[in-house]
Amino acid sequence: MNIFITGGAGMVGSHCAEYFASAGHNVLVYDNLMRSEIFQSEKESVEYNWQYLVEVQGVALTKGDVRNWSDLLGTMKEFQPDIVIHAAAQPGVRMSLEKPIEDFSINAVGTLNVLEGLRQVNPNGVLIYCSTNKVYGANVDRHELKEEQKRYCFRDINGINESESVDRTGHTPYGVSKLSGELYVQDYAYTYGLRTGVFRMSCIYGTRQFGFEDQGWIAWFCSRYLTDSPITLYGDGKQVRDVLWVGDLISAFDNFIQSDIHHEVFNIGGGPANSLSLLELIDNLEKITDRSVVVQTSDWRKFDQKVYISDITKVCTLLKWNPMMDPMNGVGRLMAWIEDNRELFQS
Ligand SMILES: NC(=O)c1ccc[n+]([C@@H]2O[C@H](COP(=O)([O-])OP(=O)(O)OC[C@H]3O[C@@H](n4cnc5c(N)ncnc54)[C@H](O)[C@@H]3O)[C@@H](O)[C@H]2O)c1
Repeated sequence: MNIFITGGAGMVGSHCAEYFASAGHNVLVYDNLMRSEIFQSEKESVEYNWQYLVEVQGVALTKGDVRNWSDLLGTMKEFQPDIVIHAAAQPGVRMSLEKPIEDFSINAVGTLNVLEGLRQVNPNGVLIYCSTNKVYGANVDRHELKEEQKRYCFRDINGINESESVDRTGHTPYGVSKLSGELYVQDYAYTYGLRTGVFRMSCIYGTRQFGFEDQGWIAWFCSRYLTDSPITLYGDGKQVRDVLWVGDLISAFDNFIQSDIHHEVFNIGGGPANSLSLLELIDNLEKITDRSVVVQTSDWRKFDQKVYISDITKVCTLLKWNPMMDPMNGVGRLMAWIEDNRELFQS
C-alpha cells in the first residue's frame, strides 16, 4: 500500500515511516522541517530524522507544507495514497498563544487540506489523525483530585474517556486548532465517507524525539539530565500524565487500519497503569543516571492540566490493543538514544 505521512520527519511521523516501510509498504514523508522554528530554537531537530529516513528502504521524502494546497494536492495526486497518517502540526501551546493565526493555519487549515486532498485523490482511503487530549480543555479540571506526596490523582475516576465534553470551556488556541482539525476529520467520515481514525493522544515519547520545554517533556527532562542542565518545574511538579511509547501508538494505528471499523475516536495514552508525575520522572532519572540536576521552580503555567490520564478501555477493546512498554524501560531506551547522540543536545 502507499502510505503518505505528513509531519513524517517528526517523532511520531518518523517512527510511522520506519514501521510501515519495514512492513513492505511504500512510504512518502511530507514535512517542511519547521519544528525548531516553531520552538524558536536555533539548533536542528527533525532534520536529524529526515537524514535518518533517507537511509531507510521504502521511504521517499518530499519537503512540503500542508498549508500549501496546490503543492500538497500535486504531491498526493502523484503518490496516490491508500493511507494518510496526518502527524504534521504545530504542537506547542505557547506558540499557539503567541501566534494563534499561524497555529490555526497549520493545525486546522492544514488538516482540511490533507482531508480534501485524500477525498479528491482516493475517497476510499484511510486517514489517521493525531489528535490530542487538549481537545477536552479545562473540562478535565472539573474532576476532583486528591493530592499525594509526589503526585495528584483523580479522586473518582481512573481516567478520561471519550464521553468527556469538548465544549463550553477554555482550550488554548492549540486545543481549538487541533479540535477544529479533528471535527473536519470526523465530518469527512460522515459527509464524504472517508475511513478515519482519530487518536486523542496523551503524552507520547520515544527515540528521535527532540523535546522542548513547551512540548515533549519526557525527552526534554532526559536531555537536561544527560547534559547536566537545569530543569524548571512550573507549579509543584505533581502534575501527572499517562505516557505511551511511540511504538505502542503505532501498533494501535496499524490495528485500526487492519480493522473493519469505518470511523472512530479513541483516547490513547499509557492509561492509569503507565502514568508519571514530573517529580516521579525526576526520581527515576536520578536512579537511572545516578546524578542530579538543578531543579528550579516557577509559577503554574496557565492551562496546565494538573492530571490527565486517558481511559483506554475503548481503544483496548475495539482495537484489541494494549500498551506493552513500561515507562522505566521506555525512558531507559530514550536515555540511551540521547546518550548516543549527545552532540545534538548540547547547548
Ligand atoms: N508527542 C506527543 O506527546 C503528542 C501528544 C498529543 C498530540 N500529538 C500530536 O501528534 C502529532 C505528532 O507529534 P510529534 O510529537 O511527532 O511532533 P513533531 O513536532 O516531532 O512532529 C511534527 C512534524 O510536523 C512538521 N510540520 C510542522 N508544520 C508543518 C507544516 N505546516 N507542513 C508540513 N509539516 C509540518 C514538523 O516539522 C515536524 O516534523 C502532532 O499532530 C501533535 O499535535 C503529539
